[in-house]
Amino acid sequence: MAVGLTHLFSPLRMRGLTLRNRVFSTGHMAVMLDDGKVADSMVAYHAAKAKGGAALTIIEAARIHPSGDSGRPAIRAYDPACVSGYAKLAAACHAQGCKVFAQLSHPGREMTMAADGTHAVAYAPSAVPNERFHVMPREMPVAMIAEVVDGFETSARNIHDAGLDGIEIVASHGYLLGQFLNPRVNIRNDDYGGTLANRVRIIHEVIAAIRRGAGKDMVIGIRLSGEEKDHDGIEADEMFQMAQAIGADDDLDYLNITAGTSAGLAGSTHIVPSMRFEPGYTTPLSAAIRSVVAKPVFVAGRINQPQLAEQTLVRGAADMCGMTRALISDPEMPRKAQAGQLDDIRACVACNQACIGHMLNACAISCIQHPETGRELEYGTRVPAKQLRKIMVVGGGPAGMKCAAVAAERGHVVTLYEAGAQLGGQVALAQLLPGRAEFGGVTTNLAGEVQRAGVKLRLNTSVTRELVDDEAPDAIIVATGGTGRSPEIEGADDAHVVSAWQVLQGQANVGGRAVIADWRCDWVGMGLAERLARDGCHVRLAVNGMVAGQTIPQYARDSWLGDLHKLGVEIIPHMRLYGADAQDAYFQHTLSGEPVILNEVDTLVTALGTQSETTLEKALENWGGEIQVIGDALSPRTVEEAVLEGLKAASEL
Ligand SMILES: Cc1cc2nc3c(=O)[nH]c(=O)nc-3n(C[C@H](O)[C@H](O)[C@H](O)COP(=O)(O)O)c2cc1C
Ligand code: SF4
Repeated sequence: MAVGLTHLFSPLRMRGLTLRNRVFSTGHMAVMLDDGKVADSMVAYHAAKAKGGAALTIIEAARIHPSGDSGRPAIRAYDPACVSGYAKLAAACHAQGCKVFAQLSHPGREMTMAADGTHAVAYAPSAVPNERFHVMPREMPVAMIAEVVDGFETSARNIHDAGLDGIEIVASHGYLLGQFLNPRVNIRNDDYGGTLANRVRIIHEVIAAIRRGAGKDMVIGIRLSGEEKDHDGIEADEMFQMAQAIGADDDLDYLNITAGTSAGLAGSTHIVPSMRFEPGYTTPLSAAIRSVVAKPVFVAGRINQPQLAEQTLVRGAADMCGMTRALISDPEMPRKAQAGQLDDIRACVACNQACIGHMLNACAISCIQHPETGRELEYGTRVPAKQLRKIMVVGGGPAGMKCAAVAAERGHVVTLYEAGAQLGGQVALAQLLPGRAEFGGVTTNLAGEVQRAGVKLRLNTSVTRELVDDEAPDAIIVATGGTGRSPEIEGADDAHVVSAWQVLQGQANVGGRAVIADWRCDWVGMGLAERLARDGCHVRLAVNGMVAGQTIPQYARDSWLGDLHKLGVEIIPHMRLYGADAQDAYFQHTLSGEPVILNEVDTLVTALGTQSETTLEKALENWGGEIQVIGDALSPRTVEEAVLEGLKAASEL
């Protein structure tokens, strides 16, 4: 065991159940479903974490009543058809020594569009509107409250029949039960509203119903947002009192503390906090609640490394550490930590791209650094190569690094060539954006994989046709990446125009009044705006879209937008760059087609995307051997596609 991780690797007992250590995966929608039931891909996904050493995996929020069926795909736990899928998942995890709980939830007013594209009627404690989805709910009649409580019981019975170990009630994140707890959302004047005792009444009823359905042996826990961190959200001191009342329920075995609410854009960024939030920043909330509740307290929120989890336990801030994205990024993390291989852990960088970013697009979750996650059935085990071959991988960015590492793990003889002095490609630039230094971890992690796989590394080496002819490899992977796109800009000769890449690399000065022309609407425009505003510039961010960061996931974008607002950055939507002169930047409104002239511009910074670097590919046109082009060299996109294509290419060699 790694020195100093003794708390993390000590067991925890609850109601006759033993969890082998203190690492667990919190409930999260994996989008691996077969019409409201667990699909085989979900079984394989959870089994990978179980094999990697997690003590407990909590399956995603499942529906308990048809009134909560939103268009977002979810398990229907109230339907007995769910039992076989749950059972398969539980058996697969139990075989690896990992316990399995299910989450039960009702969205209340957090109803997204129904599956048929209409807006279903949303039921909530009161007719108080939601700000994020713009839903005006209908007050839930008392008879319906009873039906919903019954739905928890029916669902619990199904989960019990499937052989799971526990059930977690979702009263966090501003969903139905959280709405009952919030005195500004629950304005009822019957037995379910008003006083604290009335607002928690439904929670006690739900716990009792689950106990009836699940029997005396199953563990029951509840998830609570220690603080919702939004306008009209539950405050920490309010939750502190409610948690004491809820924690006193004899049928409840643990409390699981998190933060945020689905109800608003600000609160929802805390559901899956990005790298703009400190690792472990929710632990003061769990510590406060743990000090007044005589039950085990779980916590989650950016606990991305075992050392931080250990400190959390040592400080007494929690009894179990949720490390959800840490396990998405590296399902083997607990096993590696226990074996003392801390440097081999692929730490999550909280980019929120392939996990929650996919989920919000209703696609199966994965990880930008570890595309095997979510694709376990296809890429879960490395298949040794049938015939060992000599492989040249050209380009030391994410695509090349992943490809080289996987090809070498399969037994091939691999050399990775990089023209520059270090590995990383465009990640080296991306990590220079303010608040994005942690993104550099992608390079650290992949470089470690390259080294451990035994790849030969040739830095400062530009690969030419001659070198290829000399080396005579069996196959070449062209992963030469991309370069900043700088098309002709009318009038640019008279203007001070610099590119995003030049600014990031410190190769250009920017005047006091800057306009950023942001075509891609991604991290670059926002990051440049922040950096220049922090440097004291007046910044106008002219985006060719509806909002800055339009093409990046909401949970990576929104807290950043809030910070840009605080910094005084002016964001101008629907701007197509047209030209510039000494003092002005010319745009066209992308919808009206009308010209928009921005005056008093000292510097125009262009963030116009990337273009593929194709020199080597062209030089190899008549080479005759096996060539694969991957990543930005194939088509400029993001690290996620680069790493995935590296994996795919290497798996086919
Ligand atoms: C893809 C995804 C889906 C999620 N879905 C749920 C969910 O169904 N229920 C829930 O309580 N939390 C959900 N969450 C929040 C996580 O449970 C967890 O609190 C969050 O990821 C922060 O923990 P971490 O920093 O360890 O990842 C989801 C998170 C992710 C990444
Ligand atoms: S995609 Fe990003 S946030 Fe999600 S698990 Fe991977 S590294 Fe972490």
